Amino acid sequence: MPSPMEMRRALGGFATGVTVVTTRSLISEVSPGRDAGLTVNSFNSVSLDPPLVLWSLSKHSQLLPTFAAATHYAVHVLHAGQQALAVRFASALEDRFSGLMLHRGPADVPLLDDYLSRFVCCIRDRIDGGDHVILLGEVTHADTRDVDALTYWRGQYGQLESA
Ligand SMILES: Cc1cc2nc3c(=O)[nH]c(=O)nc-3n(C[C@H](O)[C@H](O)[C@H](O)COP(=O)(O)O)c2cc1C
Repeated sequence: MPSPMEMRRALGGFATGVTVVTTRSLISEVSPGRDAGLTVNSFNSVSLDPPLVLWSLSKHSQLLPTFAAATHYAVHVLHAGQQALAVRFASALEDRFSGLMLHRGPADVPLLDDYLSRFVCCIRDRIDGGDHVILLGEVTHADTRDVDALTYWRGQYGQLESA
């Protein structure tokens, strides 16, 4: 059986795009609603009809309770000019949304205005995935723009030109 380190190294050979997944924490007696988001490369397609996507969230993430309570999320596939945004949403920064242009989707989910592709999703299922939780989403809106892609491979950001 591969060790976690061997898994990490081997999975690093799988080149991916880079996304930022956002949601909004629910208002409760103890806290007001708050925008939340993180950089994710476990995003993937599942089904075209019905339209389903998934990504997995580490059980060590401080955002686990937020996504455990959320009803919706938005996936922003990043373009080649958004490496700094990927770094920001993977950092320990408290307010990752500061200065970003956005508007609101269902359940007040923050929708970033700048992206390559964007998927607005209703959470359909949460599936246990070892040290991650798989969040299966039903896509309610999807669109894309003709710009170069941000990529991630062997721990490095790169880019792919659109044809
Ligand atoms: C390229 C890249 C891809 C990542 N993909 C994921 C992912 O799929 N799932 C996940 O839980 N964290 C992923 N992370 C880590 C989170 O973005 C980041 O560590 C986390 O948001 C910060 O800790 P917090 O979630 O406790 O705030 C990724 C980080 C990078 C740089």
